[in-house]
Amino acid sequence: MVTMKLIVLLLLCCLLSSSSADDTVVTKRRFPKNFKLGVANAAPQIEGAWDTDGKGETIWDHFARTRPEMISDRSTPAVACDSYHKYKEDVALVKNMGLDVYRLSIAWSRVLPTGKIDSVNQLGVQYYKKLLKELKDNNVQAMVTLYHWDLPQPLQDEYGGWLNETVVDLFVDYAKLCFELFGDDVQWWVTINEPKQVCNAGYGDGRFAPGIVSRGIGEYVCNKNVILAHAKAYRIYDEQYRSKQGGKVSMVIDTLWFEPSSDNPGDIDASERLLQFGFGMFGNPIFLGDWPKLVKDRVAMRSKLEGFAVSRLPEFTQEEIKLIKGTYDYLGLNHYATHMASAAQEAPIGEPSFGADISTYEWSKPEWTKGAGDWFSVVPWGLRKLLVWLKKNYGDVEIVITENGLSDTSGTLEDDHRVDYFRDYISNCLDAIYEDNVNLTTYIAWSIIDDWEWTGGYGSFLGMYKVDFNDPERPRIKRKSADYFTQIVKNRCLVDVEDCTD
Ligand code: BGC
Repeated sequence: MVTMKLIVLLLLCCLLSSSSADDTVVTKRRFPKNFKLGVANAAPQIEGAWDTDGKGETIWDHFARTRPEMISDRSTPAVACDSYHKYKEDVALVKNMGLDVYRLSIAWSRVLPTGKIDSVNQLGVQYYKKLLKELKDNNVQAMVTLYHWDLPQPLQDEYGGWLNETVVDLFVDYAKLCFELFGDDVQWWVTINEPKQVCNAGYGDGRFAPGIVSRGIGEYVCNKNVILAHAKAYRIYDEQYRSKQGGKVSMVIDTLWFEPSSDNPGDIDASERLLQFGFGMFGNPIFLGDWPKLVKDRVAMRSKLEGFAVSRLPEFTQEEIKLIKGTYDYLGLNHYATHMASAAQEAPIGEPSFGADISTYEWSKPEWTKGAGDWFSVVPWGLRKLLVWLKKNYGDVEIVITENGLSDTSGTLEDDHRVDYFRDYISNCLDAIYEDNVNLTTYIAWSIIDDWEWTGGYGSFLGMYKVDFNDPERPRIKRKSADYFTQIVKNRCLVDVEDCTD
C-alpha cells in the first residue's frame, strides 16, 4: 500500500515538474491567470545625459566624479546606456518581449535640479511624460520609483542629505509634484528603493554615495527619515490622488534569505536577527507600525554599554507610528541571493556599528553557484523560503517581486546561467504561490539592459540585452536569456508549451 502511494506520488511529481541543473524541480504549472511579468531599471543607471536639458547633479554623479577610487573601473554614469535619448528603443524591447510592466525611476534632479519645488525643469518633465506616453501607447503598465538612490547633490551639500529631517519634506514636495504631473499614467509607485542600501552604505559605512561614514548612528537616523518620507508621500497619494488615479504605492525593500546553518536555537536566532535588521527594519514600521522589538532591544542594550544616554536607534513618537503604520498597497521585494546564518559571539563593546549590533556570522557555501561577487550565491529555494517568511510576518499582503536577476562579469551573449537563474527562481515563486498560498502577483526581473552598476561601474552585467558601452551608439544586443524570457511570457509557463499543465 505504502509502495503504491509512493509510486503515485513519484508519478505525480514527474507529471507536474521537470528537473533542472542545480536541483530545482522546475514546475510545469502555468502561471496564475492574472500573474504579471516585467523588467526593471533605474534612471541613474541607464539614462546618462547627466547634465542635459537642465538636469542637476546627483550624489552619484558627484561621488563618481570626485571619488573615482570608489568605483571599480573609475567610470561615471554620465552617459551610461543613453536611455535619455534611446527610450523609445527600450520601450520597444519591452513591448516585443510581451511584458506587462516596466519599472523605471524618475531622476529627482531632472525634474527639480536643485531638489526643491521652486526649480521645476520643464524639459525634464517632458522627458518623463514622453516616456510614460510611450508605455501607455504600447499597453505596458508603468511602475515608477521616485527615489532610486539619486539625491540631488545640493540637498546633500546644504542639509547633509538623509541625515536631516528637512529632506523628508523636500522629498514629499517632489513626490506630490510627480503624482500631480505623471500620476494619470502610473499604475504602481515605489517611493524609495532599497532604503537599507541608501542608509547603511550611504550614511553608515560610506561605501555608496554620498560616502558619509557614521557607523551605528548615521544608518539609523537615515532609516527614520526615509521611512517618514515614504509614509508622508503615501498619505498624500492616498488622500489626494488615489481616487482619481487608482494606483498602488509602496516602498521596495531588499533582503537576502538567511538560512540557519543548523537546527540549534542560536543559528535560528542568527537568521531571524539578520532578517529583522534587514527587511524588518523597514517592513515592521510600514506594516506593523514600529521597529522590530528584537532590533530595538539589541541596539538599546549595546548603546547603553557603549555609554550612550539614549539608544542610537531613534524612537518613533505615537503620532509618527500612526502616520507610518499601514502605508503600503503591496509589498515590494528585491531579492538576489541567499547566505547561511550562524550564531556568533557578541561583538566587543567599542566603536558602534550596524554589524556589531547584529553580532551574527553570515557565510556562503563554496559549492553554491556565484554571480559577479562572492556574496552573490544563487540559491533559488531561498526565495521561496523568504516569501513564506514574509507571509508569516506581514500576513496575506500582495507581494510584488520588484527585482530579481543574475549578474556576471563575462557579459556573454550565451547566458545559459541567466536562463537557469530565471527559470529556477520563478519556479520557486510558482511553488510559493501554489504550495504555500503566498499572494505573489507580479515578478519583475532586473534587468532588461546592462547598466551602470554603481560602485561596480560597467564591469558587471545583468541585462537580457547587452549594451556595448564602447560604442557611442550604445547598441542593445540580444542575449539568450531575452529569448527565454520572451518565451515564458508568451507561454505563461517555464517549460516547453506542450508540457505545461494547469
Ligand atoms: C539595486 C539595483 C542594482 C541591482 C543589481 C539592486 O540592489 O536596486 O539598482 O542594479 O541591485 O546589482
